[in-house]
Amino acid sequence: MPDKQTTGQITFENTEKQGTSEHGFVEGIKAKWQKHVDKNKAKAAARDQKEKTSSNDPIKESDKKEVQKTPQPAKIENTDELKELFETFDPKKDKKKLTKKMRRQIIEAEKAYQHGVSSIKDLVAPTSVEVTPKSFKLNGMMTKSFFVFNYPRFLDANWLNPIINFDVAMDISMFVYPTKSDQMLKILRKKVAEMLSTKRINAKRGAINDTSLDTALEDAEQLRVDLQRGMERFFQVGLYFTVYAENAEKLDTVCKQLETLLGTQMVMVRSGDFQTERAFESTLPQATDMLDIVQNMNTAPLSSTFPFVSSSLTSNEGIMYGLNRHNNSLIIFDRFKLENANQVVFAKSGAGKSYAVKLDVLRSLMMGTDVIILDPENEYETLTKTVGGTYINISLNSDQRINPFDLPATFSKEEKPGESLREAAINLSGLMNLMLGNRTPVEQGLMDRAILQSYELKGITQDTENPHELEMPTMKDLKNVLESLEGGRELAVRLERFTEGTFSGLFSDQTNVNLESGLVTFCIRDLEDQLRPISMYILLNFIWNKVRSELKRRLLVVDEAWNIVQHEDSGRFLHGLVKRARKYYLGVTTITQDVEDFLDSPWGKPIITNSSLQLLLRQAPVATERLKKVFDLTEQETSLLLNSKVGQGLFFAGNQHVAIQIVASPGEDQIITTNPEELIAQRKKKK
Ligand SMILES: Nc1ncnc2c1ncn2[C@@H]1O[C@H](COP(=O)(O)OP(=O)(O)OP(=O)(O)O)[C@@H](O)[C@H]1O
Ligand SMILES: [Mg+2]
Repeated sequence: MPDKQTTGQITFENTEKQGTSEHGFVEGIKAKWQKHVDKNKAKAAARDQKEKTSSNDPIKESDKKEVQKTPQPAKIENTDELKELFETFDPKKDKKKLTKKMRRQIIEAEKAYQHGVSSIKDLVAPTSVEVTPKSFKLNGMMTKSFFVFNYPRFLDANWLNPIINFDVAMDISMFVYPTKSDQMLKILRKKVAEMLSTKRINAKRGAINDTSLDTALEDAEQLRVDLQRGMERFFQVGLYFTVYAENAEKLDTVCKQLETLLGTQMVMVRSGDFQTERAFESTLPQATDMLDIVQNMNTAPLSSTFPFVSSSLTSNEGIMYGLNRHNNSLIIFDRFKLENANQVVFAKSGAGKSYAVKLDVLRSLMMGTDVIILDPENEYETLTKTVGGTYINISLNSDQRINPFDLPATFSKEEKPGESLREAAINLSGLMNLMLGNRTPVEQGLMDRAILQSYELKGITQDTENPHELEMPTMKDLKNVLESLEGGRELAVRLERFTEGTFSGLFSDQTNVNLESGLVTFCIRDLEDQLRPISMYILLNFIWNKVRSELKRRLLVVDEAWNIVQHEDSGRFLHGLVKRARKYYLGVTTITQDVEDFLDSPWGKPIITNSSLQLLLRQAPVATERLKKVFDLTEQETSLLLNSKVGQGLFFAGNQHVAIQIVASPGEDQIITTNPEELIAQRKKKK
């Protein structure tokens, strides 16, 4: 802006102090003047032009008057006085210096200035609204507003939650007007007196006792006591809803759904017909209650209406899963308190699935829960070794041994002695099917006999009590028995591959690892393809036996589960385990990055349905559509998943949904990270 501005009426000198509040004030006035002067100049120029071009069309007398009537900018007459005022103006001290007239002029100037400034209102205002008696059309969107006119006698905590989570465009506004307790007490006293006298009159007449009157009287008395003692306060509450839909038909459906949802809570609503505009305005975020339809409520039921309880998942027991991103509270939870303790974890690669589950494992171990892990990526070794667990590398090169003939420690007390042996024999028979391929019925009979005889050689029969305390037979013993049986030679030769030949190793000898430790991890990364079915069979049977042997809190973690469900045998097993886990105090955690593969397998979907705990971390856009359907996600939840960072996502526990941030302490992070940089740094430190 040039230093001097000639307006024809007043000259301002640029003498205002920079950076003070007066600066903006004077600047505003100047801008206003400039605007008015420019506007008037433009108008005058246009008028001159018009007069020139239509000189042979003389202006009518009335038109002239019209022209003279165009509003002129407010004239400031006391030029010097005003000028001086602006130069030395201090709003605190100099208030009195302003004359009434000057004040008015300044206000007018300010008004004119503000008139030309675009405000937030201009930005958010709709292009059109159409008000009809029954609906309110906003930019082509149909809306309908409702008010609550009656509440039930009892309100459940968090009753508004289903409506908040109702996945339609909706505005909800709530007006809470505190009332003075003493006023309320006066009214209540009167009411109680009325009810008592009605009761007395009824009794005098000999009429039957009116139970509804009794209830009302009881409630009123209770409230009177609570108000008097200051335990409760009294409020008037207005609750309004506005729903939006693209067309009348959809709006109708949505309205019915809303009414039903509220109806199930016995909360009665009516639409704001014939006052649609006022009803709509009442739900705008501007705190104007245009309807003023309120209900009386005391503190207790009012607090149950507080709508944000849904996003808190803090309980007194359990382990910490992470931070609640809605309110930074801790998500502390005991999965064994849910209807089942199973969990599914879905996310794209690198989003932090294994990290989250490792934290879960670490913290669960601290609470005395046993854990078994199937680790296909050799990721859990540090974790297992740090906590003193058993890490078993399932591979032909491994020097660790698991004996498939092992009998589980103690089955439940009701089971008879022989039971575990019979089970083991059946399982071994199945294992032989996998090892030796198809056999004739005669061969099968022979094999079953040989298995039982191998146990007998070690002194284990159907009648032996506590057989697990004795030494177990091995694959080699079975081979020897087969050799000694008539017709068993051929089978013995076929079995040789697994006792001395290429596939000997892992399963041919007595168990030499501690399978009783709190954390047992099976690394299946180096599992040879030919050995896969056999190994999985033995492994899964081991897990099953362990789970059944003693009732104890246990977790089974299956990482990269899409890999497991691809195979018929292991998929079926996992599904069966997930379904029955609850009865055995077991929680199965299934981790998968390949949503499509997992869901396409016949076992994937049922595993999800049978898992009460669901953790969704960052997703690839391709996967979201499928997930949205399977997990019934809202639009916001879907976009939250797409925009999540590593370790962020959604955590579902039963019906409760929260946005989660997985956090680890530095100590935990060291044990569980798979970040190559951090791992190298750790190794260097060790050296
Ligand atoms: N909550 C978190 N805080 C800090 N770092 C994390 C968090 N979650 C994961 N990370 C880091 O992100 C990386 C990937 O995590 P993680 O191994 O858990 O991914 P993933 O989802 O299991 O991937 P994949 O499917 O490939 O196994 C790791 O380096 C890990 O240290
Ligand atoms: Mg992983």
